[in-house]
Amino acid sequence: MTLPASSTAPRHEANDESSSLQELESAAAYVQAKTSLVPRVGLILGSGLGSFANTLEARVSIPYAEIPFMPQSAVVGHAGNLVLGRVGDVEVACLQGRVHAYEGHAMSKVVFGARLLSRLGAKAVLITNAAGGIRDGMAPGDLMVLRDHLNLMGRNPLAGPNVDAWGPRFPDLTEAYSAQVRAAAADAAKQVGVPLSEGVYAAMLGPSYETPAEIRMLRVIGADAVGMSTVPEVIALRHQRVLVGAMSCITNLAAGISKGELDHAEVEETARATKSRFESLLASWIANVGRLVPAQ
Ligand code: HPA
Repeated sequence: MTLPASSTAPRHEANDESSSLQELESAAAYVQAKTSLVPRVGLILGSGLGSFANTLEARVSIPYAEIPFMPQSAVVGHAGNLVLGRVGDVEVACLQGRVHAYEGHAMSKVVFGARLLSRLGAKAVLITNAAGGIRDGMAPGDLMVLRDHLNLMGRNPLAGPNVDAWGPRFPDLTEAYSAQVRAAAADAAKQVGVPLSEGVYAAMLGPSYETPAEIRMLRVIGADAVGMSTVPEVIALRHQRVLVGAMSCITNLAAGISKGELDHAEVEETARATKSRFESLLASWIANVGRLVPAQ
C-alpha cells in the first residue's frame, strides 16, 4: 500500500513558517487595536517579579487569555497579562508572567510572547528570572546580570524550518547579552545603590530542581546560577537582532549548596522580599536602555 504524500512529508505544525507568522500577526493586531502605544523596550518578568508591571504609567493591561494564540502559564506567581505603558519617558510592553518549556509547551509557544514584544516595536528586551545561586559567596536576594548562558535544555526555539523574515538559519550568539545593555545595568546599579554582579546562567529544562551532582557539574562547566527559563527567549530575540539584557534574582542557593530542601514557595518569597531593590534597579535600567534605543 502506498501512503498518501501528506503522511510521508515532514510535519512541523508548531513551527510551520506561515502559521507562525500569521499567529503573531493576529496577536499583534489584537494588541494594537487596544492601544496606540508603540513600545521601545520590552520586559519579561519572571517568578514573583511580575508586580513591576503594576508600576507602569498610563498602562493598558491585556490578559493573555484574550490575545489570539498567546499561550498561558499555569505556574503560581505568573500573572498572565501583557501590560503596556511608560516608565518615565520610555514606552514599554511587559509580559507579566511567562510560559516554560517544562509546562509542556512547544518551544514556538515558549517564545511567542518574546516575539510579540519585538513585533510590537521593542528594539531591546530586558528579561528577569528567579535562579539558584551556584558561585561561591552568593546569597538569596542577590541580583546578577547575565553575561552569557549555557543552554542545557536540550531544545532550541529555532529548530524547525527557519522563518527568514525573522533572521538567519544560523544566528550568531557571540554577544547574546548586549555589552551596552549590561553596562546600562551596571550604571543603574550605581545610580540606585544596589549591588549587582555579572555571571553565566545555566538553563535546565526542569521542572525538578537539580541534584547536588548536577550542580557540581554546572559549577565545573562555568555556571554561576541555574534556572528553567530565559534562554529560549534570548535565542529567539537574538535571531531577530533585538538587543537583550537579562537579570536573575538569586532566590535560593542551588541544590547541595543550600542547607535545606528547595521549594517554589521559597523561590517566590525571596523574589518578593527583593522586590523594592529589584524594582528600583529595573526602573533605572529601563531609563538607561531607553537612551540606547531611539524613540520611533
Ligand atoms: N534551580 C532551577 N531553577 C530555579 C532555582 C534552582 O535552584 N531557583 C529558582 N529557579
